[in-house]
Amino acid sequence: MAHDLNCLTIAELEVLATERMDKQTRDYYNEGADGGSTVRENMSAYKKYRLRPRVLRNVSKVDSSVEVLGARNSVPFGVAPAAMQKLAHPDGELATARACKSKGIVMGLSSFSTTTLEDVRTASGNIPNILQLYLFENRQHSSKLIQRAKQAGYKAVVLTVDTPLLGRRNLEIRNQFHLPSHLKIANFADEDDIYASTWAGPRPSSAAFYEGDHRVLPAGPITFHSHGANPTLSWEEAIPWLKQEASPMQVWLKGIVTGEDAQLAVAHNVDGIIVSNHGGRQLDGTLATLDALPEIVAAVDRRIPVHIDGGIRHGADIFKALALGADFCWIGRPVLWGLAYDGQAGIELCLRLLSDEFRLCMGLMGVTKVSDISREYLCRMKRDGLLSRL
Ligand code: FNR
Ligand code: LAC
Repeated sequence: MAHDLNCLTIAELEVLATERMDKQTRDYYNEGADGGSTVRENMSAYKKYRLRPRVLRNVSKVDSSVEVLGARNSVPFGVAPAAMQKLAHPDGELATARACKSKGIVMGLSSFSTTTLEDVRTASGNIPNILQLYLFENRQHSSKLIQRAKQAGYKAVVLTVDTPLLGRRNLEIRNQFHLPSHLKIANFADEDDIYASTWAGPRPSSAAFYEGDHRVLPAGPITFHSHGANPTLSWEEAIPWLKQEASPMQVWLKGIVTGEDAQLAVAHNVDGIIVSNHGGRQLDGTLATLDALPEIVAAVDRRIPVHIDGGIRHGADIFKALALGADFCWIGRPVLWGLAYDGQAGIELCLRLLSDEFRLCMGLMGVTKVSDISREYLCRMKRDGLLSRL
């Protein structure tokens, strides 16, 4: 397939997309919490590792596919759930679903999408997708959403667990982030009818849910900024409730960055975890996901799949994450940049760049199947600049 000569890398895609987005969208998509150190470290963590290619291994056939959620995925990565995609392009989540379908790649849908989960499911065809969940304090809202996902044929729900409170994103606050009036948080639009409004802002501070010590339940239309955070969730209560409610769909947790919590996830019988710090959008100063990965892989000890997201900007990053023990990766912002650049075609371009880079990396590394990727293929850069074997 012909190259897009304007855009040969994800870095170029970021520049092109950034030119196309309005300020509110650009800031919302690109920003991290507070000073942004975790956003940067998610990316720079990959630079601490160098590749150890092997040669003379007949790489004329490279198979980059893996099994995920019971289906074959063309590459070991999927599209991470990201909210409000019609901000980037009028086709929003439908463009993402169609691009994923055309590339044989699994899609994560945010609860706070601007397209209904049913419409996305239809556009996805045979590609399995997962629904990302926030568990609301009013469980009826969550329950309804989970039943709809089951009905529509979602394979798994993924509970985001790193949002007990909203991270502080200063550009969002300064821009007084709000969803333009022609867009809706589609999955809850019917429930919002009682408010006769598509209002989605302004963003409250996380403290707005308390009056002194007294907790005030979120009210008004269901939006990320009003209802997404839920400080009341706990392992003991939320996970058994969700497992029962979601069955027979799988239940995954997204937002684990320690071995301790990975152990708890296994103990609570979840089907898998995503090592994630929300793309650095929640707690600034959180360690990079790639740095958290080895301890989590050791703690889980193959009992459930371990996926990772955050900072992946090149196919070789995916190779490194797999070499450190991840089973699968998820891509956040680069997909949104593809969407902003050129809708479905822009996402296809993004997925193609990452897929091509990953396959090329496999071949040049002397690896012909994904299951052969291991720590043997990496060395780590030490502080003094010298390299050490893992
Ligand atoms: C997100 N992310 C996210 N996560 C989630 O669980 N529910 C959501 O609704 C959203 N929404 C969202 C919006 C935007 C604009 C971004 C950039 C991210 C986080 C996402 O799933 C993923 O964890 C990170 O994006 C991964 O990091 P990278 O790939 O963006 O560096
Ligand atoms: C965000 C939410 C929607 O990161 O997860 O903006």
